[in-house]
Amino acid sequence: MKNLLAIVCSPRKPSNSELFIKAVCKELGSDWELNVVRLIDWNILPCRACYKCLFDKCVQNDDMGSLVELIVNADAVALCVPTYFLGANSLLKRFIDRGLMFYSVFDKLWDKPMVGVITAGVAGMEGYAKLMVDSAIKVMGGRLLASTVVFGAFPGEAVIGDENAGKVQMIARALSSEKEISSSGLRCPLCGGDSFRFAEGKRVKCLLCSNEGEYTVTEDGHIKLIIAPHEHQFFLTYQDAMKHYEWLKQMKERFLRVRSQLKPVIKEYLHYGKSIDPPNDGT
Ligand SMILES: Cc1cc2nc3c(=O)[nH]c(=O)nc-3n(C[C@H](O)[C@H](O)[C@H](O)COP(=O)(O)O)c2cc1C
Repeated sequence: MKNLLAIVCSPRKPSNSELFIKAVCKELGSDWELNVVRLIDWNILPCRACYKCLFDKCVQNDDMGSLVELIVNADAVALCVPTYFLGANSLLKRFIDRGLMFYSVFDKLWDKPMVGVITAGVAGMEGYAKLMVDSAIKVMGGRLLASTVVFGAFPGEAVIGDENAGKVQMIARALSSEKEISSSGLRCPLCGGDSFRFAEGKRVKCLLCSNEGEYTVTEDGHIKLIIAPHEHQFFLTYQDAMKHYEWLKQMKERFLRVRSQLKPVIKEYLHYGKSIDPPNDGT
């Protein structure tokens, strides 16, 4: 029996995100069990940017440690995320911003099969939500088997119709075969990402791995990408990720060295402008 952990980022119950992954699990059959984490019910506090978790425990006293443990113990993970204002909703971002915690268990997360489900209410209006979900999976060290954007506005709509049924089957196939199923079209030769920024001088940047290079257009109109790895890599290989982890840890000594030089810079701006405290609403 394999266990699929679905991290559902929708605040609504029932949600399209949750219904879709349940349909996937039904398709997978009795060899799989589904565990659902509704992030809205979990106490996940924002990252404090103190970097303590790189050396010791995270300072936030919340449910993030238990969630990381669930991810470590899952055979596969599904990130199920609604689109809000053209991006992934904030529950995903708050969770993934705690990602420095992943490094201490990265050997257990690396290459774990993962899939992304992005729900959106209006066909074609998912904006950069898929990129955010793909990125979250890569940052978790997961092997991105497949991700799909599912259209449906009202709860239930994501699991009706032939198109959505095809997407359910595709995600189930990716999970059962543990094989990557990528959408057709232009893909980054380094990470498989499918979102790019094109610039003058035939420059191109992959928005998933952040590496840059050049593109050429062949005579028959196809775009060819030549992208080279940057010095810093979050997830191209396990070794690259560990190198970045070590670099991050070394930043502490660097900070201690430059701290006294930065103090006067900070002091100059300390009382500039007026800070506005939140209103006391009596709660
Ligand atoms: C605040 C808010 C913003 C939304 N923005 C978008 C959007 O930019 N594009 C879109 O296609 N759908 C948008 N939607 C619709 C949801 O993505 C859609 O209803 C989806 O089914 C929600 O999935 P869920 O049921 O899993 O929460 C938005 C919904 C809300 C509540």
